[in-house]
Amino acid sequence: MEKRKIKEGIYSVGAIDWDSRLFDNLIPLPDGTSYNAFLVQGSEKTALIDTVDVEMTEVLLKRLDQLNCIKIDYIIINHAEQDHSGALPKILEKYPEAKVLGTSKCKTMLLDLFLVEDDKFITVADGETLSLGNRTLEFIHAPWVHWPETMLTYLQEEEILFSCDLFGSHLATTDLYVTDEGQVYEAAKRYYAEIMMPFRSILKKNLEKLQKYNVSIIAPSHGPLYPKPEFILEAYKDWVESKPENIVVLPYISMHGTTRNMVEYLVDALVDQGITVKQFDLAATDIGKLGIALVDAATIVIGSPTVMTGPHPNVVSAAYLANALRPKVKFLSIIGSYGWGGKMVETLAQMIPNLKVEIIDPVVIKGFPDKDDYKALDKLASGIADKHKELGLIQ
Ligand code: FEO
Repeated sequence: MEKRKIKEGIYSVGAIDWDSRLFDNLIPLPDGTSYNAFLVQGSEKTALIDTVDVEMTEVLLKRLDQLNCIKIDYIIINHAEQDHSGALPKILEKYPEAKVLGTSKCKTMLLDLFLVEDDKFITVADGETLSLGNRTLEFIHAPWVHWPETMLTYLQEEEILFSCDLFGSHLATTDLYVTDEGQVYEAAKRYYAEIMMPFRSILKKNLEKLQKYNVSIIAPSHGPLYPKPEFILEAYKDWVESKPENIVVLPYISMHGTTRNMVEYLVDALVDQGITVKQFDLAATDIGKLGIALVDAATIVIGSPTVMTGPHPNVVSAAYLANALRPKVKFLSIIGSYGWGGKMVETLAQMIPNLKVEIIDPVVIKGFPDKDDYKALDKLASGIADKHKELGLIQ
């Protein structure tokens, strides 16, 4: 366990999940993930911070055995989601004297999810501390990172922030700490886009709340630990607070090549206007990549053919996702085609109420584009450039 030792008496005891390729049967996991849990031994008491996914229970039990852990006094549950709480019933079976600590909302959720006795729980207030003897845990309520019940746990003496989902990355690695910053930056940004971005405004408040803490190590419950916390704190500040960039994200699908032709023409026209474009074919794209692109984009242009009077179902799915993720995008337009009619634009426009965007006139054409249609796409490109200039994104 020497390689999993953070400090004397503080160990990472979670599990690496190399093989999963979908989280919640929804989110692609190109690099697997991990479910980190931490054992903190004080001079008088021992605490386990978070558990692991139920499928990985045996790994956690093995790690605790390797440390000869015969008694756990407290199980801190920062977040009730099952990838961190799934092993709780088995851990309580093995360590029946342990008390479970979490927010009051967390307690309700755990009682809903597991058949655990009510008197096992101790609810903790925001800012409350717990002495382990020579070590002190402080609980920081941080709602909506990722569910309403979430909290973080701060080990005061060693200045370690156990942040659970917050600052996490879906990355299976045997490295305890970040070694390849480029790889972790991409994985953490993907994680932010998929899990944290919908709660951006409350996340900003939670980040402000953390400013008063000296943090030497951030220990999330997915991915490697940050021995240089400013790396991930600065990335989050940028993702949450910076204004969008001079980028158009263009998710599209094409059935017979017409919409693709329009997309390719528009991409060239946007590039000529000095705009960076990120194009995603929804027939094959990894939605995590699309999520990453949405973190910084100022504009979305959706490309769709008309299918039975409405948008293509893959486009419907992407629009639903973008609406749920609530990126800081400012402008939106739609391009596409139809054979005899339809309400593709109206249907899509109704699907994005969460996006506080200005709609730039869509270009939806009958059949294959002719020269007037290409002119309309040129006009759309210059219209988007004008909007980006107004925001100061193009000099
Ligand atoms: Fe890693 Fe929201 O669970």
